[in-house]
Amino acid sequence: MAPHKLCMIPGPIEFHEDVLAAMSTPATSHVDPNFVPIFGESIEMVRKVVLSENAQPFIVSGSCTLGWDMMVNLLEQGDEVLALNTGYFGDHFSECLEIYGANITTLKADVGSRPTNDALKEALSSGKKYKMVTVTHVDTSTGVLSDIKAIAETVKSISPETLVVVDGVCSVGSEEIRFDDWKLDIVISGSQKGLGVPPGLSVVVASQQALKVFKTRSSPIVSYYSNWNKWLPIMEAYESRKPAYFATPAVQLIYALHASLKAITSQPMEVRFNEHRKVSSEFRQTIRGLGLKTVAQCEECSANGMTAVWLPEGIEIPQLVPSLASKGVQIAGGILDGLAGKYFRIGHMGISVTEPKRGHIDKVVEALTSSLTELGYKA
Ligand SMILES: Cc1ncc(COP(=O)(O)O)c(C=O)c1O
Repeated sequence: MAPHKLCMIPGPIEFHEDVLAAMSTPATSHVDPNFVPIFGESIEMVRKVVLSENAQPFIVSGSCTLGWDMMVNLLEQGDEVLALNTGYFGDHFSECLEIYGANITTLKADVGSRPTNDALKEALSSGKKYKMVTVTHVDTSTGVLSDIKAIAETVKSISPETLVVVDGVCSVGSEEIRFDDWKLDIVISGSQKGLGVPPGLSVVVASQQALKVFKTRSSPIVSYYSNWNKWLPIMEAYESRKPAYFATPAVQLIYALHASLKAITSQPMEVRFNEHRKVSSEFRQTIRGLGLKTVAQCEECSANGMTAVWLPEGIEIPQLVPSLASKGVQIAGGILDGLAGKYFRIGHMGISVTEPKRGHIDKVVEALTSSLTELGYKA
């Protein structure tokens, strides 16, 4: 691999050499008999990553935001949506759904925490019939992990028809997700975070209940490219090893996705979840050892694939980020409105976690520690 700064932002993450090599295929037709099973197997492996037997994956060219847009397939004008908000990405997910006619009720937690289950129960019992409850599994702006198992349990016990829609962009591949057992309806993701593939693929998984809502809706879907009437036959065709065309798939990215999913699914998902849990817990301990505080306010609500950390007094992002960059490590500043300059974010996903011999985590900790010291910080 070409020399480069170690990319320790919360996505895109570091790519495995095999994933990059898989992309460098010669020009290949999207209906080539060699490519068709690659696409078909990728669809099947996405299902395995979210531990589902019969959910429907959609793999479509686009960034993860396209997954938000795909909710146009489920929403009709005036539908009520309850949005559980833990940061910037929750705000923008809601902004997207409003474009498609949703009336949003937001349960917003204080920065670093998450809405309580009691607040969710109260909202669901208020008399409003919610079409969907949305939740950002890990809000990449805060590193807060939502308890989607408990949320889905509450939603399905109070209002079984309400769809549980999870933005899993910063969680799929690094956090435990049991799509079927937890009765989730939608998980939205993409290539460049826990799946360890360059940016450019939107990956969305839909339950049979969600597909029923899509198929029985009464108004037309006001979108062309994100319309599941176009994409569902394509996914079904490739999964049954037949070529089909609606819009040209990103052939080389799908080769890369296939290589990464093969590695991810070569062992039980529990192993991967536990590796991420262990590394993130140790990372938070290191942060506390440096006398710093994470944005996430509790251990259970801390993401396993990234950490957001408050800056110490007197040190600013325009000092810290370039200082780490000069040591060959790329980290990210904050993005929360009004607080962006007050904290930094570090990703710990994929091969940086599953292949400790690469030394990525050690390198980011070393660079952070010496940059802080150079900038005058005393723990
Ligand atoms: C939680 C979350 N949702 C959605 C997105 C949007 O993804 P993309 O930038 O790939 O469109 C991001 C991007 O970082 C994210 O972290």
